[in-house]
Amino acid sequence: MDRNIVIGIQWYGTKNDNCWRHYMKNKNLNILYVSAEVSPFAKTGGLADVAGSLPKALLEMGHDVRVVMPKYRMIDGDFKYVTDFPVQIGDWTDTCIIRKIDLPARVRDKKKVLPVYFTDSYKLFDRDGIYGHFDDAERFVFFCKAVLNMLPLINFKPDIIHCNDWHTGPICMLLKEQYRFNEFYSKINTVYTIHNLEYQGNYSSHVVNLLNVGYEVLTPEKAEFFGMFSFMKSGLVYADIISTVSEVYAKEIQTQQYGERLDGLLRKRSSDLFGILNGINYEEFDPQTDKAIEKNYSVANFQDKQLNKKAIQKEFGLPEEDHPVIGLVSRLSGQKGLNLIIDRIDEFLQKDIQFVLLGTGDDYYQDRFRRIVINYPKKIAIHLGYNEQLAQRIYAGSDMFLMPSRFEPCGLGQIISLRYGTIPIVRSTGGLAETIIDYNDDIKNGNGFSFANFSSLDMLAAVDRAIDIYSKRPDEWKKLIIRALETDFSWSRSAKKYEELYFHAMNRGLVDE
Ligand code: ADP
Ligand code: GLC
Repeated sequence: MDRNIVIGIQWYGTKNDNCWRHYMKNKNLNILYVSAEVSPFAKTGGLADVAGSLPKALLEMGHDVRVVMPKYRMIDGDFKYVTDFPVQIGDWTDTCIIRKIDLPARVRDKKKVLPVYFTDSYKLFDRDGIYGHFDDAERFVFFCKAVLNMLPLINFKPDIIHCNDWHTGPICMLLKEQYRFNEFYSKINTVYTIHNLEYQGNYSSHVVNLLNVGYEVLTPEKAEFFGMFSFMKSGLVYADIISTVSEVYAKEIQTQQYGERLDGLLRKRSSDLFGILNGINYEEFDPQTDKAIEKNYSVANFQDKQLNKKAIQKEFGLPEEDHPVIGLVSRLSGQKGLNLIIDRIDEFLQKDIQFVLLGTGDDYYQDRFRRIVINYPKKIAIHLGYNEQLAQRIYAGSDMFLMPSRFEPCGLGQIISLRYGTIPIVRSTGGLAETIIDYNDDIKNGNGFSFANFSSLDMLAAVDRAIDIYSKRPDEWKKLIIRALETDFSWSRSAKKYEELYFHAMNRGLVDE
């Protein structure tokens, strides 16, 4: 409790009945933010966006925040060597080299830095790509242990370790099963954020040997999951507090439909499970300053958005027509509901629209879209790959942005498109349901178009409703663009909620002692 000031006592009726908890407020927390992806260093999806922007927002609130991620081969930059040490993985030992980059940041007009640490292993991480290697279990066991082992060596004792997604789950477990017996680690509390419950890191039970924890963690109450060791479950069971990236998804994952076989556990821990909507970095995604787009714009000159539309039509070789351009930027995976488009592609493309897709992922979707382009070269254009600048040009140049997701924990695509005055058409699930209000249902507050059932016909009907307003009621469409440009989904609100959650986790820790 050294740095913490107890300013009151608050009742939490959640875990142990009839217990009062110390309510602690602390202006400066030490926070270690752990993620397998951090933008701008390595990114496959929204996790990297969040890990690249939330820690900055927390630093700006006055906290001492450090970020740690693996050093993949493709990351290069102005690294400082910090230290190295052995990491035991089962019966062998690998060397971890810690390197660091200080990212410039500002705190109340003063120059500050956000230190980002990289755990390097020549054996396990000096390869192409981020995930999908035969030994991913070893790689992320190494990462989890390296993160914990480096702390005394860099002289940083966190109040909170904030873990994200399956790659970091065992950190919560190792702390409770092993490290907390060492004085240095004994007061550290954990928050574990689920960005996507579908990816669980389930591996054979030999992972227990790699972790050097003993088979007693392989029980259904702990990290055993249908005979396997589950990285995700080890986080969910052992974290002090669990969060996910929207309130709606926090509820959804407690149901069988969205719970990915972990709904029972999540229901059991429901009083420790919170939903906090993601924000985005309003400086990185800013149509007024974005260097990747043809013409900068803001509310004051929003008509210039049109020039960005012309530019992407040209870039993608589509005719320069005034039909709405519908953009889609996404990982190509089952989660994203692309089958709703593919199943009724003829009806979709017979509408007065153009469709621009940027994505990479499953071969199945890549092949299907490649074939569709051959039949409709003037209606659809695709780029199969990963390209951040092109993504920004699509956000800026499209009139509408389509996200027909099967499930969507938060979704950043719809938030980024609003930032660029591009109107989302979404399936209302998870964070999409929380951020997009259907215009036909609520003309005063609507900021997009949404449909509830996971059905192609319902999606097409939502697209029709959007086209209708675009073509028949242009003044209303302009208002929608302005409303989108004025929306605020920056981190300010959500970062405060994380701060609250950290205090809550620490209060829990006090009681558990
Ligand atoms: P998810 O994390 O499930 O992939 P999100 O909507 O939360 O979905 O975030 C996706 C992020 O990744 C957005 O920043 C989006 O622009 C970006 N993105 C996805 N696919 C690509 C791509 N092919 N090229 C560039 N950026 C992409
Ligand atoms: C996940 C989810 C996405 C979310 C992102 C960042 O990848 O699929 O919905 O926005 O993480 O939290």
